[in-house]
Amino acid sequence: MLLHVEWACFLLYAAAGIAGVLLIPKRPRSTSGASATRRAMLPGMRSRRQLALGLCIANAVRCFSLFLEIENREGRLTDLLQQLGPTQMQWLWDLISLCPTVVYLSAFSIVVSFFAQLHYAINVVPLPLLDCLVVCVNIACYFLVVAVAVCTYLLCAYHHLRAYLSCIIGFLYVTLAWSMLYYGLMVVTQLAEICRKDPPVRMLITRVGVVSVFCPALFLVRAVCLLGWGSSMAAPSTGVDLLLALCSEWLPTVVVIACLIPISTSDFPEELTVDSESDPDSPGTEGPALHEPLMARESGIGDNWTGGDVTRSWRLRGDNPQQATSYFSCCNLGKRSLAVDASTDRGRDLCRRLAISSDVAGGSAQRILHSFERANDEKGQDVRLANILAAKAVSDTVRTSLGPRGMDKMIQEPKGEVLISNDGATILSKLKLQHPTAKMMAELSKAQDIEAGDGTTSVVVIAGALLGAAERLLKKGIHPQTITEAFLQAAHKAEEVLDAVAQPVDLADREQILQAAITSLNSKVVSQESETLAPIAVDAVLKVTDPKSAKNVDLNDIRLVKKLGATTDDTELVEGLVLSQKASRSAGGPTRVQDAKIGLIQFCLSAPKTDMESNIQVRDYAQMDRLLREERTLLAKMVKQVAKTGCNVLLVQKSILRDAVTDLSLDFCAKAKIMVVKDIEREDIEFISKILGVEAAATLDTFTPDKLAKANLVHEENLGTELGSIVRFTGLQTSKGGCVSVLVRASNQMLLDETERSIHDALCVVRSLVKKKALIAGGAAPEMEVAQKLEAWARTVGGITQVCIEHYAEALELVPYTLAENAGMQPVEIVTQLRAAHANGEKFAGINVKKSCISNMFKENVVQPLLVSTSAMNMATETVRMILKIDDIASGHLVSHGIQREVGRHVEMKRSLPPTSPGMMSSSVWTLRGCVPRRRVSSMTLGIITECACYKLL
Ligand SMILES: Nc1ncnc2c1ncn2[C@@H]1O[C@H](COP(=O)(O)OP(=O)(O)OP(=O)(O)O)[C@@H](O)[C@H]1O
Ligand SMILES: [Mg+2]
Repeated sequence: MLLHVEWACFLLYAAAGIAGVLLIPKRPRSTSGASATRRAMLPGMRSRRQLALGLCIANAVRCFSLFLEIENREGRLTDLLQQLGPTQMQWLWDLISLCPTVVYLSAFSIVVSFFAQLHYAINVVPLPLLDCLVVCVNIACYFLVVAVAVCTYLLCAYHHLRAYLSCIIGFLYVTLAWSMLYYGLMVVTQLAEICRKDPPVRMLITRVGVVSVFCPALFLVRAVCLLGWGSSMAAPSTGVDLLLALCSEWLPTVVVIACLIPISTSDFPEELTVDSESDPDSPGTEGPALHEPLMARESGIGDNWTGGDVTRSWRLRGDNPQQATSYFSCCNLGKRSLAVDASTDRGRDLCRRLAISSDVAGGSAQRILHSFERANDEKGQDVRLANILAAKAVSDTVRTSLGPRGMDKMIQEPKGEVLISNDGATILSKLKLQHPTAKMMAELSKAQDIEAGDGTTSVVVIAGALLGAAERLLKKGIHPQTITEAFLQAAHKAEEVLDAVAQPVDLADREQILQAAITSLNSKVVSQESETLAPIAVDAVLKVTDPKSAKNVDLNDIRLVKKLGATTDDTELVEGLVLSQKASRSAGGPTRVQDAKIGLIQFCLSAPKTDMESNIQVRDYAQMDRLLREERTLLAKMVKQVAKTGCNVLLVQKSILRDAVTDLSLDFCAKAKIMVVKDIEREDIEFISKILGVEAAATLDTFTPDKLAKANLVHEENLGTELGSIVRFTGLQTSKGGCVSVLVRASNQMLLDETERSIHDALCVVRSLVKKKALIAGGAAPEMEVAQKLEAWARTVGGITQVCIEHYAEALELVPYTLAENAGMQPVEIVTQLRAAHANGEKFAGINVKKSCISNMFKENVVQPLLVSTSAMNMATETVRMILKIDDIASGHLVSHGIQREVGRHVEMKRSLPPTSPGMMSSSVWTLRGCVPRRRVSSMTLGIITECACYKLL
């Protein structure tokens, strides 16, 4: 009967041993030989492996012991044991039956050691010698057993062996039961606190709970029995002994093996299941294989600035400087590292899922995550991309108006006025822009208008293209500072290239300047009149400058006088002065004066007014009569004094206080044969005085004959009843030169305004040539040439700068692309042809929009000033650099709110963290402050997150 029971026990133990063998976790394959030595297993994994191994050995030993007993019972060992006496035999069988129990105790001590490790890790208590302690205690136990066995044998106290061993093993069982219960329950409570809402972890808690309550209970039962037998309080019985051995060895083995089966991995983020190993020592130096499934390109994780995980340098008081820090030993050693590409949605999602289930954050995982996602750099990136978007939208708006075939824009002003224009600066100045960077684009256009006068559309298009390139570079993960530096270098190089392809221009060569003005006018609404307007602009500038010595032109010396009526080609450059006001001849004064002596006055020919509002009561006709007589005498005196100087043409400044002239004064002037032109604007006085060569008289006393200008003829020209008239001054004798007037004509107000703007642009083009005497080809030839030269140069630069410069060069190709697109050509085809032409050394090749082909722009007479192109490129680059450097937009009151919010968040964060170690606290703050390198989650962040992952893999 007993034999059968022993056979059954043998089989049970053998089955448990085989199950243990099957459950030994496989050692993960390492990716490289060098890293294999550095790799360590997760604490849970290592303990599971050791435990499974220990249980296997214990079961094997117990099987062997049972096998010997069965063999003995069947009498097969009698030959072998015949020399031994019965007491010695008893001694031997006692030893054989009790020794396997000691091996079981060793195996179960691994569970206690693991629970203890977890408990201390959670509490951030460094216990690096825990493993060593457990091993030492085990060895000591074996020594004790051996010592007792040897002593009892040598002292021939054979029957004492069982008593002693029972006491020792009973005592060890009690110790093991209590420590397993204590650490098990501690881990259960801590796990319960950690992940209350995590179902898989709840399952884990149950398993740990079962192991830590069920096993100690069985151990205690056996311990009581063993202690009872050992102290001779009860007599041992073979059957009960076998049963107790089963309960305290086999049953706990089964329970532990059942709890060792891993939790279904489907409950965890999928990424967690693909990774297998950790790198405990150097997170920054590992090979890439580990991170492949996470789509992160980084070869390792960790903060490169601090040379790995910063926690290594955080030492608590009492930490040995030669060893790893407490924090590192507790939390990071053997931790599981994940490289997460935080720039991707997938990476961020993984972080989010891990952080939500993380423990250390103590319920503030969402806040950590929020701060991580909104870390400064990420936030800056968002702001940058939003700015780029707004600026590009502005650029796209004016893009369609680039070039001679560009479209025009109709803008309706709030007052209902309508404006049609092709001029970039005008369009952008009329747009109601809200976004700060959109406004910067309008400012850019305005700046180009001031500097060069032309190229205001091109500058915005180039800026938009560069922003597009910058956006692509930012998305590649290149730092904005690197981009801005590279763009600056590219702009300098571009200027050199433009200088190299420019042709010097001689201001005496009117034809060349004329071509530049025509090119500018060609892309305007009034392009069909470019042949008429261009010579006017060129001659006007040449008249007010000395071609040999001039370095700049003051365009205030050229007065554009707009007069509605006639057609645009009636626009003329006036030799002398022209005024859009008509002569005041209500009293029948002269409208044509030969040998005119012109006076320019700023005082009024009317009765003076009191400074204060006052009333004069006139009671009878006599008084009224006297009043009128006074006024009459006064005005008569004034006109007489004016006439005495010899003046026969009087220009009177407009007054806002009272009437500059009255009917009575006009009447006196008519009688004195003085032609009066009133309502001269205050701002025109300077120009008129300059062109006439005389000073304006501020008072009647200062109006002397030397203040009179002389002209051969002053006459009023009537343009028609509805259009009014103009007054022309020809043959100005006193004029010192340096001023001209241009009479701008057009059939409607919109066209008139646009013609004026176009002439202004043409004047600016000529001025640009005076400023920088060089011409370059038009038709996007310079942009393509610069793009090609930059690309070639970029290759010599190398590194990230090369990538940035290449993007810069590529962006410039948007100008030819847009020109072709606006002209209705096939942009891709044309740009390819243009690229090929420039690659063949045709540096003047540009887009001939008239013939829809590529041709030499100098031969086609499409030329533009060098200054327009250089200033457009430099200004566009400058603006793009400014936009890229902005990482936050804040209005005054929001800034203080933002700071308060930030400070509040810190305080909150500190409070919510467990009061464990200062290192831990600052680590979270460190993460909060946005020191996380972009595209990476620092190993610190993961240190927090993955601690939970370790428990999950328990
Ligand atoms: N006949 C032409 N053939 C080809 N390209 C031309 C011709 N005339 C002008 N261009 C090109 O058109 C572009 C200029 O277009 P446009 O004048 O509309 O814009 P802008 O000068 O940048 O701005 P704006 O004139 O509004 O201040 C330049 O690149 C110039 O080389
Ligand atoms: Mg232009």
